[in-house]
Amino acid sequence: MNPSKLSVPRIGTAIIGAGHYVPQRVLTNDDLSRMCDTSDAWITTRTGIKERHIAAETENSGTMAFEAARRAIADAGIEAGQIDHIIVCTVTPEMALPSTACILQHRLGLSEKGIPAYDLVAACSGFIYGLATAHAHMQVSDAEYVLLVGVDTLSRLTDYTDRSTAVLLGDAAAAVVLKRATPEENGILFTKMGADGSGREMIWATGGLNRPRDARPGPPGSDYFMKMDGSKVFKMAVTRLQQLVDEALTVCGLRQEDVALIVPHQANRRILDAVADKMCIPASKMYINIDRFANTSAASIPVAYDEVRQQGLVKPGDLMLMLAFGAGLTWGSAVVREAPPFLRT
Ligand code: ACO
Repeated sequence: MNPSKLSVPRIGTAIIGAGHYVPQRVLTNDDLSRMCDTSDAWITTRTGIKERHIAAETENSGTMAFEAARRAIADAGIEAGQIDHIIVCTVTPEMALPSTACILQHRLGLSEKGIPAYDLVAACSGFIYGLATAHAHMQVSDAEYVLLVGVDTLSRLTDYTDRSTAVLLGDAAAAVVLKRATPEENGILFTKMGADGSGREMIWATGGLNRPRDARPGPPGSDYFMKMDGSKVFKMAVTRLQQLVDEALTVCGLRQEDVALIVPHQANRRILDAVADKMCIPASKMYINIDRFANTSAASIPVAYDEVRQQGLVKPGDLMLMLAFGAGLTWGSAVVREAPPFLRT
């Protein structure tokens, strides 16, 4: 490793707590095969997915974000009242307005504090965009703690008669608490965000917005639900993710061996296998949990990160490479260093 190439910010940002929440209800591949023309064998071999969690009627991105946030705040060992800034990354907000972040701020009992709270829309790349935004905010504010949530309730945009999308999607929320740190303690070593709006019709859903009333919320097949050009997106994801790996390693002056674990967005196991294969990355370095959760959009990377920490797969000082690609089209990467225990309160 050539440390001189690592960016040294004026203010460091360290991840000091994490938590995630998934709804209780599990939808298996066999369940789906009774809802549309598919099978466990097809889904398993073509995607690596075995099951996904689906929100109950009473749940939504706001309620799930609250559960994940509570867990992350407890894990960080701070009080909710210490949070100075809230970012919620989601494409499935609790309602069109106000933002899910404002709803969350109130549920956490922080409305009187007047801290900024806003949603960030970058689909599967949301968490990476959120990390970059939170780290940038640290440089220009006196914030001590930022709460960053990735949450999506994709089941609300899923047409369960459309086998080309229904099998891929699940619901989840995950949150991290970011703490102001010294430049030497910085844990966000590199972030990259990108987008190409000409690819907007490769993954899209109106969700009932900007369409006549009769387009909401169905019938099956209507614009309301998510549509995707799966095979085109697949090929673009494999190419883009390889570029993201190359760029992050080059800019940071790192070799593959310097990275303890890749924590990628989970869209399709075959995408991750193809990237690992083409770049000679050992399978053991690619964290995969898509079998249990499917694609949970903005929640995907932070759920994986929380699991990685809980399972002790990274130790303080270890470097992780986070990678995302999704609707927009958007993409992003982050090199994150696991924080030392003394930064936790
Ligand atoms: N069950 C059974 N058969 C199916 C299913 C299914 N669920 N879905 C498609 N098929 C059939 C197709 O109809 C086709 O049949 P045909 O050969 O008779 O025409 C055949 O399987 C192959 O279809 P493909 O679309 O070529 O299958 P592919 O291997 O590309 O897999 C998939 C499709 C899983 C969608 C894959 O392309 C993919 O994962 N794409 C990327 C998804 C992604 O990364 N999305 C980005 C994030 S989403 C976000 O941002 C919220």
